[in-house]
Amino acid sequence: MKIALGNDHTALEMKAAVKQHLEERGIEVLDLGTHSPENCDYPVYGEKVGLAVAGGEADLGIAICGTGVGISLAAGKIRGIRACVCSEPYTAKLSRMHNNSNVLAFGARVIGIEMAKMIVDQWLDAVYEGGRHQRRVDMIHAIEERQYRQEEQR
Ligand code: RB5
Repeated sequence: MKIALGNDHTALEMKAAVKQHLEERGIEVLDLGTHSPENCDYPVYGEKVGLAVAGGEADLGIAICGTGVGISLAAGKIRGIRACVCSEPYTAKLSRMHNNSNVLAFGARVIGIEMAKMIVDQWLDAVYEGGRHQRRVDMIHAIEERQYRQEEQR
């Protein structure tokens, strides 16, 4: 299992803690930055995480900014990405079981490091249930595909 990690300047410390936690679980980490405390733009790193997951370079992605919102919005713009902001473990778990989320996001200014680790663990340990949920996940991507087709026809 390989996980792509991306973050902005607000989340350096949290990213380091999450990275260590993942490695302790025996998971390979693809750290896509940022690696510097300098102010940067979260869409750059959300896109990197989304592309790594959509392109098969990583199995899943974790994206962290101040709130988790901006970086998840950016990751979710990549075709095939289902990015969710989760500030507690229940939503993270259900986002895998029902929505087959493939990018988890949270906010370094919103939650603490121990909560982040718990969220990551619940997300990773949950199993996608498929079945009736697959139809709904397919419906989400059908929205994406309809829009691309309409744009191609213009
Ligand atoms: C950066 O100040 C902040 O806007 C960013 O980390 C994030 O919270 C955006 O959604």
